[in-house]
Amino acid sequence: MTQRTLVLIKPDGVRRGLIGEIVGRIERKADWRITAMELRTFDRETLELHYAEHAGKDFYGPLVEFMASGPSVAMIVEGARVIPGVRALAGATDPIAAAPGSIRGDYGVEVRENLIHASDSEESAEREVKIFFPGLV
Ligand code: TYD
Ligand code: MG
Repeated sequence: MTQRTLVLIKPDGVRRGLIGEIVGRIERKADWRITAMELRTFDRETLELHYAEHAGKDFYGPLVEFMASGPSVAMIVEGARVIPGVRALAGATDPIAAAPGSIRGDYGVEVRENLIHASDSEESAEREVKIFFPGLV
């Protein structure tokens, strides 16, 4: 089943020089393709929309601040089972709980600075693709 997903390499991943490492893990999966990619410091409006489901939670303000603190890489990845697939590569939200071998499990310590975002469903993917790549159909 071919899907597409929205992936972000968050500001900590870019700052720490992990773009190549993270992109490499995605590219090496059979059949998956990166079909759009941008390096940019996203504005708060975009990030608030992206994380709207968390508005009002205690971590929401600091999360948006962190996400606006420097450039992220936004990309669309397409391929077989890519939505659950990139979630699996990323690992659990809390890097200490994330399996060793996953991106968060290998490189993260703090919940907020957990390196990568990946859409969690087809609905989220379509919503998030429109937020980060509004020019695309
Ligand atoms: P969430 O959607 O729960 O996790 P995921 O990124 O795995 O889909 O949360 C969004 C982001 O918010 C998460 O990647 C890191 C941050 N966050 C915190 O800073 N503190 C928290 O307690 C939680 C649950 C998330
Ligand atoms: Mg989420």
